[in-house]
Amino acid sequence: MSAHTITWSGSIPGWAELIDQTLLPGEFKVLSIRTAEEMWEAIKTLRIRGAPAIGVAAAFGLVLGVQKAEAASPQAFQVAVKHVSEYLRTARPTAVNLFWALDRMERRAAAEADRPVEEQKASLLAEAQEILREDTEKCRQIGEHGAPIISEGSGVLTHCNAGALATSAHGTALSVMYTAHERGTNFRVFADETRPLLQGARLTAWELGRAGVDVTLICDNMAGVVMREGKVQTVVVGADRIAANGDVANKIGTYTVSILAREHDVAFYVAAPLSTFDLDVPDGAHIPIEERAEEEITEPYGTRTAPRGVKVYNPAFDITSRALVRGIITEYGIVEHPDTERIEAFFRQHCPERLASIS
Ligand code: MRU
Repeated sequence: MSAHTITWSGSIPGWAELIDQTLLPGEFKVLSIRTAEEMWEAIKTLRIRGAPAIGVAAAFGLVLGVQKAEAASPQAFQVAVKHVSEYLRTARPTAVNLFWALDRMERRAAAEADRPVEEQKASLLAEAQEILREDTEKCRQIGEHGAPIISEGSGVLTHCNAGALATSAHGTALSVMYTAHERGTNFRVFADETRPLLQGARLTAWELGRAGVDVTLICDNMAGVVMREGKVQTVVVGADRIAANGDVANKIGTYTVSILAREHDVAFYVAAPLSTFDLDVPDGAHIPIEERAEEEITEPYGTRTAPRGVKVYNPAFDITSRALVRGIITEYGIVEHPDTERIEAFFRQHCPERLASIS
């Protein structure tokens, strides 16, 4: 891509710039986002989407919301931070990276509560930029750890968009593919179109094609056929939230793909940074699932395709049981056959501070 998914321009005050993903692939437009309200709208309407990118957007959104605050005291500034953070938390419920990033921003604010307000603002911007920088690095590492699961001459299926557009760079599931491609592995990707908002058709097919990866677009209901025809050996998808036991929330339709993969003896992998794990949630049944507007199904992209007044159910995500997951590819390596014990041991080794904070 010639521009980044999201960046910060200027210092304090400054603004965020992001690619408007609702317009792709027809139009490539970079938006300037100048207020917390504009960032909330951009997240809600999926101008920026994908769990890690939502986290970065929320962090910058917090900076936007407080950068012009004329707080009478450092303590008053803390109240403003909390207020904007609470507001941004209402943008979307499922991707835990949004809450993870805002928790981290609030911790940074609290740690510097005694400093002058202007210094606090600068350090919040530094924290948001660090979240972006780390995300880029972690996505790259996910690619390094995951690339060996793609074998020469094989077929890989993915659902939704877990690519550069869904993160600050590289992607999670697509980072695995980009790294395998860079290493010279020949493979073919099947991209599910991903109803109703077509992130697979509009974003994944676009991204992979531009990177020179061999990609074939299929409708969601064709995944079973390509597996039965022996064209797919591996599935790699992203995640919006992973429970402590390894159950995975991801874009609606992922669960169906996981069942098909089991039926056809296809390895099902999830790629996600540790920021996508929610250790406070014991299993997938406790993950909040976003329900979106019925028009996304009855009038996709402005064209009515269903009778007026028909009842609609539009959950944006589903849960794939840990038992169907061969492995979770993280920035520290792969958690094979995830369960509560293995995930806990993995965090104890690589990120013990997260275990200490479980409520
Ligand atoms: O509704 P979206 O487009 O935000 O959903 C995105 C997904 O489900 C992705 O697969 C997930 O966030 C992983 S992104 C690396």
